[in-house]
Amino acid sequence: MDVENAVISTAETDMEMRKKLEAIIDEDALNWIFEKRDSFLDLISYYRCAMMEVQTKLNVLNEEYSIRFARNPIMSIKSRIKTIGSIQNKLKRKGLPFTLESLQNNIYDVAGLRVICAFTEDVYSIAASLLAQDDVTLIEKRDYIENPKANGYRSLHLIIEVPIFLASEKRKMKVEIQLRTVAMDCWASLEHQLRYKKNREFTEEMANELMRCAIISAELDERMNNLRRTVDALPVADDK
Ligand code: GTP
Ligand code: MG
Repeated sequence: MDVENAVISTAETDMEMRKKLEAIIDEDALNWIFEKRDSFLDLISYYRCAMMEVQTKLNVLNEEYSIRFARNPIMSIKSRIKTIGSIQNKLKRKGLPFTLESLQNNIYDVAGLRVICAFTEDVYSIAASLLAQDDVTLIEKRDYIENPKANGYRSLHLIIEVPIFLASEKRKMKVEIQLRTVAMDCWASLEHQLRYKKNREFTEEMANELMRCAIISAELDERMNNLRRTVDALPVADDK
């Protein structure tokens, strides 16, 4: 039984749930869950709604681009809600209290979307079209494509705020969006797998090799982008 299921399950009695949870989380978190369970679940569901809203916005943009340019700039979208365990860890790491207010004010990636695009230019045009919408507010932008991280990581990170419309209120919710090309996603996924392999030391030589792979991946994106521009500039042949 993990924390998520325990909190979400309503079939169990509080006593049974408390016993199971005692073994895996600390007392503060345990008391908090019991006091605030309903409002916590409400809040998580608002984040899920915001994630759906943004995903729909992205699907609409993809549909429009596919009609206008006969190709899909977005190849896939992955979504996830941060688990209670990692919310708790993040608050702890930042030295913040485990409260609903603290969560809403300090954790911007409870709702997260990863948008995999075909070309680097698609990353920027999708981001620009999304940010131009009048119900989308940009909270934070980190351009790791323009300025890659020291290890070679590239992606465009946006934190946005969008409204969700509930039965009798409107709420603004934050959503984290990571936009990247297939090549960037390939590098990031493999780097993550390699780096988090348990009980193995990650050497400097391995980090250097990963950096070389990041450079190759950036070059691949640039060459593919150039190819696309060349193809787009070709005269359109008549259908036979
Ligand atoms: P967090 O505390 O994790 O939110 O970090 P941050 O607030 O400094 O944000 P940052 O923009 O650096 O990274 C947020 C997310 O981007 C991470 O949770 C990962 O999903 C992704 N990410 C950032 N850096 C790397 C990296 O070096 N490798 C991989 N694979 N993913 C990364
Ligand atoms: Mg973050």
